[in-house]
This record gives sequence, C-alpha cells and structure tokens, in this order.
Amino acid sequence: MRETYVAALDQGTTSTRCLLFDHQGRLVSLAQQQHRQYFPRPGWVEHDAEEIWKIVCRIIPQALDDVDARPEQVVGLGVTNQRETTVVWDHRSGKPVGRAIVWQDTRTAGMLDDIACDLSAEEIYARTGLPLVSYFSGPKLRWLFDAEPGVAERAARGELLIGTMDSWLVWNLTGGVDGGLHATDVTNASRTMLMDIRSLEWDDELLDCLRVPRAALPEIRPSMTTFGTTCAPVPGIPVTAVIGDQQASLFGQTAFDPGDAKCTYGTGAFLLLNTGTELVRSRHGLISTVAYQEDGEPPVYAVEGAVAIAGALVEWCRESLGLIRSPAEIETLALSVEDNGGCYVVPAFSGLYAPHWESDAQGLVVGLTSYVTKGHLARAVLEATALQTREVVAAMNADADVPLRSLAVDGGMTANNLLMQTLADILDVPVVRPMVAETVSRGAAYAAGLVAGYWADRAVLRSYWHKAAEWQPRTTPQERDRQVRAWDDAVQLAIGWGHRSSLR
Ligand SMILES: Nc1ncnc2c1ncn2[C@@H]1O[C@H](COP(=O)(O)OP(=O)(O)OP(=O)(O)O)[C@@H](O)[C@H]1O
Ligand SMILES: [Mg+2]
Repeated sequence: MRETYVAALDQGTTSTRCLLFDHQGRLVSLAQQQHRQYFPRPGWVEHDAEEIWKIVCRIIPQALDDVDARPEQVVGLGVTNQRETTVVWDHRSGKPVGRAIVWQDTRTAGMLDDIACDLSAEEIYARTGLPLVSYFSGPKLRWLFDAEPGVAERAARGELLIGTMDSWLVWNLTGGVDGGLHATDVTNASRTMLMDIRSLEWDDELLDCLRVPRAALPEIRPSMTTFGTTCAPVPGIPVTAVIGDQQASLFGQTAFDPGDAKCTYGTGAFLLLNTGTELVRSRHGLISTVAYQEDGEPPVYAVEGAVAIAGALVEWCRESLGLIRSPAEIETLALSVEDNGGCYVVPAFSGLYAPHWESDAQGLVVGLTSYVTKGHLARAVLEATALQTREVVAAMNADADVPLRSLAVDGGMTANNLLMQTLADILDVPVVRPMVAETVSRGAAYAAGLVAGYWADRAVLRSYWHKAAEWQPRTTPQERDRQVRAWDDAVQLAIGWGHRSSLR
C-alpha cells in the first residue's frame, strides 16, 4: 500500500506554502513561493489575488511531485490563510475587482467615525468582539463599495462574490466559475466585523452599516468539516478544514484546552489564549475571536493580542533600508553592541493594534544621538517585538485571574536567539519553542487530518509536541522597568504624532 498524507495550504501575508505531513506528524514536503506586495500610497497595502491563485496552482503539484505522491494519497487538505485581507471577484469571469486590500492597510482610518455614526463602536464590539479599526474586513468593504464606481451596483445585481483569502482559494480549488463552493469558516468570519460572534451568523445591522450585500457573502461553516473536493490544480483531494493562520498555529501547538496560549512571530505577532467554549471579553484591549469549531460542536473561543508589525520591521530594514541582507543578519548586527544606546523604534506602520487600537498612530525612531549606530538600531528593532509582546501579555494578565507562567512561541522570528532571550527578559517568564516548525500549516493539517480520520484523536497530535529550546529571564527588575517606561513614552509619542498629522 502506498503512503498517505495530509496536506496544508498556508496562504500567508508574504508567501504561500503547500506542505505534506505523514502519519507520524512529520513534514515530508514543502513548496513555497512569495507574492508581490503593493504599497501604492502611504498606509495602503494590496495583493493580487490572481497572482496568489497562480502560485497555488504551482505549489500544490510541486509538493506532491517532490514525494512522488498522487492526489488519491492525500486524504485531506487544510486551508489556512492571512486573515481579514479582502477580495471581491466576479463569479462569471472569476476575475477579482481590483487588488485585495490587505489586513495591514489603513486607508479606512478616516472613515471610522462615519461608520460609528451608523452603528456605535460599543455596539460593534458587543456583537463582534472587535474594536472599530481599519484592521478588519468590514471597513475595507465599505471603502470598496463607496469608492469604486459601479461595484455596489454590480454586487446588488448578484454579479460579485466577497471573501477573505480562504474563500477565494476554496472557490477556485473547488471549481471556480464552474460551480466553485463559496464558503468561509467561523474563524475567518470572526475577523470580518460582519458576523455575530455568538450566533456565528452574518448580522443584518452590521451588513447595513458596512454596506455589504448579504447575497455576495460566503456561507459560514465550522472550521473542521467538508468544504468539497478539489477540481484544480489537482483534482480529487477533499478539503476538510479551513482555519485562519493564527488560530491554526494555536491548533498546531496543540493548545486545545482552556488556558493554553501561544505567540506566533511572522509578519506580525499574535498571542492567542484558548478560553474554551466561554466567550471572554477583555477589559484591557484584547480581541475576542473564534479559535476553531468542529462540525456539530460548539465553537471554542480565544482572546487575542494582535501586533501588526514584528518580522515586517526586520523585512523593512532589509528591503527598504538596505541595513541588512538577510533577516538573520539583524541578530549579528544587534550583537555588535551591548544595548540599544537609548534608541527605540515604534513600528506603527499600520497604526497600533492591541492593546492600543490607534489607527492613526505612525511609526517613529526616538533617542537618536551621534552615539547611535546601526547596531543600536538593530537592537531597537528586535526589542520592539519583545516590548510589543509585553504589552499584550500585560493586558492578558490584567484580564486573567492567573498570570501567564510561560510563553510558547513559533514562527520565523523564533530562529533569532537574541530576540528570544530579550523576550524572556522583558516578559520575566520562560519562553519555550517546540521542535516542530511550521505550526500554522501543521495546525491546518491537524484539523484536516482529524476530520479525515487520519489521526484518531488529539492525544496522538499532542504526542508530536516536543520542546526544542527554552530561554530563562536573566535581566534585573530595574533594567526591565527602565526599558518598559521608555517604551511606553515612545508609544505615546507615536500616538500623538499620528493624531497631529491627521489634523494637518
Ligand atoms: N533570524 C531572524 N531574525 C529576525 N527576524 C527573522 C529571522 N528570520 C526570519 N525573520 C522574520 O520572520 C518573518 C518570516 O517568518 P515566517 O516565515 O514565520 O512568516 P510567514 O509565515 O511567512 O509570514 P506571513 O504568513 O505573515 O507571510 C519575516 O518577516 C522575517 O523578516
Ligand atoms: Mg504565516
């Protein structure tokens, strides 16, 4: 008998991957390709959804070919994706209407007050668990329907389909213009600002307020259920899970129980705490979100601290500043000095997310003197990720009865030892990294494999989790406090600068 596999398709902010896992949870194949980032104006971030679909058409066959697997050897496919990024497309031609508006895009910051006039921010928060900010899909859709001539009319005539990246891919995978399935899952829908987080249904008042025609929206399904069978790029693979990337990494870390948490460091940093079937409302600036839902079961919720810019700041140092040639070099450069030399970088490129939710905030570098070198700047870049994590951990601790005792981490940035040590120092708790890489894809594969009956239960998946490394806090309380106070001041400057520039 030939070996069987579970596949994951991970459509991220910067790249798309297809991975195959075997019965022992081993990663046996990986095909990956980056797509283009469009920054047409300050604050705008766009992707070409067609380019992304073309990449998917290359990497799925490639991942199969690399292990000589036929489609019938793949028992299930889990789709996971960058969340909130919004695509509108024509269901007859299959062509997107303009470029996808990416989660980081802040073009809607100036529209939020108008939205609040239609439905208050408090009411939106009560229904969706989300603050009224540019990050989520709803404001992006209202912008599209308001700004792009003819789009609202075409949508009202039933010519257009709306979706996040998962919907776009599932529709294309399952046939596209020839009867593709137009669906999403509860985790992705919980980020649109259009779904009632308790009933798990589209909410008419939210749709009215954000100008979204119900007919153009996908059907909401549980994360772990059947989403049809692929027709393209290889036919015959059952799609058995769809789950947003951060929820997928929670699942991939096998954080199945209430109280389990993880933080993923990719483009941004996302700390999620499983709260079980209880919907917990943060009083300190965290989001309530759906963690996953099995077919026929109640949803499992999480609270989330989202930080927009983490690895993206390292990427910016490479791509836009030319300060380094590879992401790993940021560590070498940072280790050329002892400390940050008084320098702090607040990367408010998309405003500030949790716990501040300041859509207007803009990034800044403070503490510059002639003493500061690029080494100090590199340290400040890494510290920005640690200090932003501390803000969300502090919010989580303020909400909870019991403070976080250790932090499980994953994602590309966790290869950086200096960052991991800085994180342990600033959080004052041990930081733990599992052996398994690619927790986002792994989570999607785990979810898909459980539905397909490939793995008997979650206990099997837990047995695949092994600790690879741990960092203990080493710094003094005085040093930690000094850093945190300086950071808090720098954040206030970024917020103030943003407010003043929005008035100019
Ligand atoms: N050694 C390193 N030190 C610091 N940052 C790093 C290092 N290696 C990778 N990164 C950063 O990590 C990010 C890549 O991580 P990862 O591969 O987990 O992200 P991703 O899944 O591709 O992100 P996304 O899904 O958001 O596209 C990049 O932003 C990169 O700059
Ligand atoms: Mg990713």
